[in-house]
Amino acid sequence: MSPLLEIRDVSKGFPGVQALQDVNLVLDRGEVLALVGENGAGKSTLMKILSGIYTKDSGSIHIDGEPVDIAGPREAQALGISIIHQEMNLLPHLTVAQNMYIGREPRLGPLLKERALRRQAEQLLADLGIQLPVSAVVGDLTVAQQQMVEIAKALSFDSTKILVMDEPTSAISLSETQVLFRLITSLRERGVGIVYISHRMEELRQIADRVTVLRDGTYVGTKAIDDVTEEEIIAMMVGRELSGHHDQRQAVQRHPDDVVLSVRGLSTKRLLKDVSFDLHRGEILGFAGLMGAGRTETARAIIGADPSTAGSITLHGKDVKITGPDKAVELGIGYLPEDRKRHGLMLDQDVTFNMVMSSLRAVRGPLGFLRKDKAQQVTRSFIDSLRIKTPSTRATVKNLSGGNQQKIVIGKWLARDCDVLIFDEPTRGIDVGAKEEIYKLLNELAQRGKAVMLISSELPEVLRLSHRVVVMSAGQVTGQLDNDEADQEKVMALATRNIDREAA
Ligand SMILES: Nc1ncnc2c1ncn2[C@@H]1O[C@H](COP(=O)(O)OP(=O)(O)OP(=O)(O)O)[C@@H](O)[C@H]1O
Ligand SMILES: [Mg+2]
Repeated sequence: MSPLLEIRDVSKGFPGVQALQDVNLVLDRGEVLALVGENGAGKSTLMKILSGIYTKDSGSIHIDGEPVDIAGPREAQALGISIIHQEMNLLPHLTVAQNMYIGREPRLGPLLKERALRRQAEQLLADLGIQLPVSAVVGDLTVAQQQMVEIAKALSFDSTKILVMDEPTSAISLSETQVLFRLITSLRERGVGIVYISHRMEELRQIADRVTVLRDGTYVGTKAIDDVTEEEIIAMMVGRELSGHHDQRQAVQRHPDDVVLSVRGLSTKRLLKDVSFDLHRGEILGFAGLMGAGRTETARAIIGADPSTAGSITLHGKDVKITGPDKAVELGIGYLPEDRKRHGLMLDQDVTFNMVMSSLRAVRGPLGFLRKDKAQQVTRSFIDSLRIKTPSTRATVKNLSGGNQQKIVIGKWLARDCDVLIFDEPTRGIDVGAKEEIYKLLNELAQRGKAVMLISSELPEVLRLSHRVVVMSAGQVTGQLDNDEADQEKVMALATRNIDREAA
């Protein structure tokens, strides 16, 4: 029997980039095929060709042994192909239910049957075990919730035979990941073939049958997951041995008396209750917790992006009133947001613009003119040190791969000289090699005397990098651990503390 899906020798070029060159992929019924590769390797491009968003330059695609012509998203859908996009494709002003069934709403003549739509959406979410308010406006949801809407939307097509998941877990927490994996298992039992893209190596073994590796737009190979080690997959991805993959954390460089930022009794109407902590010079302070624990909220309340109802903030020993993000920047507090699309980047501008726009002071001449040569130079140095894959400093940011966009947000904040840097999920969607680079950068920042707040859902990352770990649950700080006493179990116990109490 012919395989469910076969992609043969597919190539695709964009101006200045050969995104794919003679790439092959085979997917069987009821199989989960992991598709991996570094940022910019061509994973999303290949899947966009499969789902009719891009057209290929050459090559062929076969479904059930028959060659198919996928002229657009509608044709892809008719062939049973659904995709969960890496960059969320939801309409922020519409509700969850409206987004899930857009263009397919139940209607009575020209009239939209609102109630039927809501009920249908509620039913599907219940079947899937996803908890979301169907009438909520998508733009008000967290990134994680939006990702769950994307997932539900892709699963709402009964006719799906081939499901593409482009980094579905990059923004969701462990418990939601387990919900997703249960869904994948039931889909696979129904014979659906799934292409699963992820940078989280530990997930592959849990969920995938085989793994296909791309590197720089070319096909490297495919292996059964039981026949390869994680190191072998990484070597296939990067084409070299990764040095320093297991590096130990830098020596603790904490200056106990040198408190840069002191937060006391911070509360918000929605979630935070009496959040207090100190951030020292030269310290990486990790923030761990489950989704919705209040870590991003804490950061946003500090920089004045959300109003607080109580609390005080001291910077270098002086009381400060931070009225908004601009004020925070002026005071030397940089916030790298978890949602780069909404808060981090000007997608229609080029790399240089995005990288230096927040650090204009560094590239202004004596008369206040923007010094183009200096701007290019700063940009080029970050392209090198972060290994950003872009055809040039002038490329439009929206054309870069997801992970490379994330690196630009990081570069942008590094280019600006802040005393306090708040990183919210800095390695989300970043490939293994580049993750190491970012870890190195965070360490360097701390060693240069910066104070770093690190919010991350990847516990190993928090444990490895942080000098101390603040654990939050349900809007409160449930504990603070020194790095030598912090381990996975202790953190998880603190992270689930309030929730247990509430349940009891
Ligand atoms: N619309 C476009 N215009 C120009 N270049 C593009 C476009 N889409 C993708 N590219 C380029 O094609 C290459 C492959 O990008 P792609 O998004 O497929 O990578 P990826 O493997 O999904 O990476 P990531 O892990 O970062 O998501 C990159 O160099 C990217 O800049
Ligand atoms: Mg991608």
